[in-house]
Amino acid sequence: SRTVTRTPDGQVTVGGIEVARLAEEFGTPAYFLDEADFRARCQAWRDAFGPDADVFYAGKAFLSRAVVRWLHEEGLNLDVCSAGELTTALDAGMPAERIALHGNNKTPEEIERAVAAGVGHIVLDSFQEIVRVAHIADRLGKRQRVQIRVTVGVEAHTHEFIATAHEDQKFGIALAGGEAAEAVRRALKLDGLELVGIHSHIGSQIFDTAGFEVAARRVVALLAEIRDEHGVELPEIDLGGGLGIAYTSDDDPAEPHDIANSLREIVTRECAASKLRTPRISVEPGRAIVGPTAFTLYEVGTIKPLEGLRTYVSVDGGMSDNIRTALYDAEYSVALVSRSSDAEPMLVRVVGKHCESGDIVVRDAFLPADLAPGDLIAVPATGAYCRSMASNYNHALRPPVVAVKDGAGRVIVRRETEEDLLRLDVG
Ligand code: LLP
Repeated sequence: SRTVTRTPDGQVTVGGIEVARLAEEFGTPAYFLDEADFRARCQAWRDAFGPDADVFYAGKAFLSRAVVRWLHEEGLNLDVCSAGELTTALDAGMPAERIALHGNNKTPEEIERAVAAGVGHIVLDSFQEIVRVAHIADRLGKRQRVQIRVTVGVEAHTHEFIATAHEDQKFGIALAGGEAAEAVRRALKLDGLELVGIHSHIGSQIFDTAGFEVAARRVVALLAEIRDEHGVELPEIDLGGGLGIAYTSDDDPAEPHDIANSLREIVTRECAASKLRTPRISVEPGRAIVGPTAFTLYEVGTIKPLEGLRTYVSVDGGMSDNIRTALYDAEYSVALVSRSSDAEPMLVRVVGKHCESGDIVVRDAFLPADLAPGDLIAVPATGAYCRSMASNYNHALRPPVVAVKDGAGRVIVRRETEEDLLRLDVG
């Protein structure tokens, strides 16, 4: 990230602090998040989209009260997908009208809390949910602003588990076969709902922006159909998140302003062609904001050279703090950060301390051959979907998140303790 440098003796510093000091003060494994970088990325997204659009940070990537406050201060909105995320957002002072609620199976309790709190909009994900939200809003004497999530039928070129715009999956309502048009028909009839827009999210960790452009065109085409059938022009479209980030030097992600310019241009052009007023655009980046802002710091433990194969380097964390390698075959890089070394590079696999062989953090990487137990190594770009997907597998204690800024680290999510584990165990 922006404020990472290396001192002449090879120590990496982040936000002006040497990693050895960070390890001493906060322990390992730990995630270190560069607050200035996070804020700069928020600003880049806001600036790219401008005052006529909204940027909803996708809280699932990583959410904490500090993060909510930064988002609030930087003028971003927030997408939450559970009661837990909603509670965190409200507790940290995000105004309810700047929150959107997502999910393919929101419970009645979650819907009720969101409606009662007055969230900006709820994204409806199924025919059943249209009725469910309308009933709850009626009961609470409210009219809830909603969007309908459609699947536009584009194949996003990413891992199957994180692609969401093809039709054979659990999210959204298909544009194909008139399903989405029927959902709109039903939503417009219900007093408890104020249908304000159409939502599309095509997937995650996407580099080719063509998929977003196709989605934008198809969503605008639906707006035109809705205008023709019902005489209403929906004022909003949300094109979801999903912009990829660089995990290794092979990745070449688009910038927020590239995607903003191309979406704005397409939406404006298509709307003009259909004589529609240009709707307010919103987007929901998660990974692209928080992903690059953090790294995980590990201490090297057992080193096991396998003759003719590779060297297994075990660290003090693993799949409990980064499941992405095991789950998606995700690629990461790794660097020795506590000292410099002139030793030859050796082929390594960085593995965790968990009881299974799929517990891999970095599948293939090079580290200096003089690597030794006690060295500190860092895996960059772990800000998104690492702490948020962390587990207690093998009763691991989930690592802290430390915000680094102006030469000081501040714990924003503390390390779990054995007392935390035992507190939940009430048998
Ligand atoms: N909006 C919606 C409706 C979403 O479902 C998601 C992510 C986002 C926005 C944010 O997407 P992003 O900009 O972060 O790519 N655990 C997986 C990623 C799952 C993404 C789920 N939805 C991973 O670690 O790659």
